[in-house]
Amino acid sequence: MSEPTQLVKICNASDLPKNGGKGFQVGTLDLGVYQSDGKLFATHDICSHEHEYLSDGWLEGECIECPRHGARFSLKTGEALSMPATQPIEVYAVERKGDEIFVAIPVRYLKPQGA
Ligand code: FES
Repeated sequence: MSEPTQLVKICNASDLPKNGGKGFQVGTLDLGVYQSDGKLFATHDICSHEHEYLSDGWLEGECIECPRHGARFSLKTGEALSMPATQPIEVYAVERKGDEIFVAIPVRYLKPQGA
């Protein structure tokens, strides 16, 4: 079942590296947004193995490799493709409107802390 999301403007396409990722803080979410061969992806930015920012890792086509221990994740599905990670990461829908990049952020990350 899909959870409620809100489309949030994250950045302009020109703010992203042509083939790479960038991390953003959106509410309580660490968000990673990636541009690879003209395609856009958005994921939870924290590796499911330990606390590491995936957007600092290496992009290989539609996969991101964690900079700490080298686990690879699908940017399309969030699936963990190699050890040592075994759990998936969350992925989010991305929309481009002109130069602006929007991501469907689950509203649970947007609620005020403690609410
Ligand atoms: S922290 Fe990402 S693979 Fe270990």
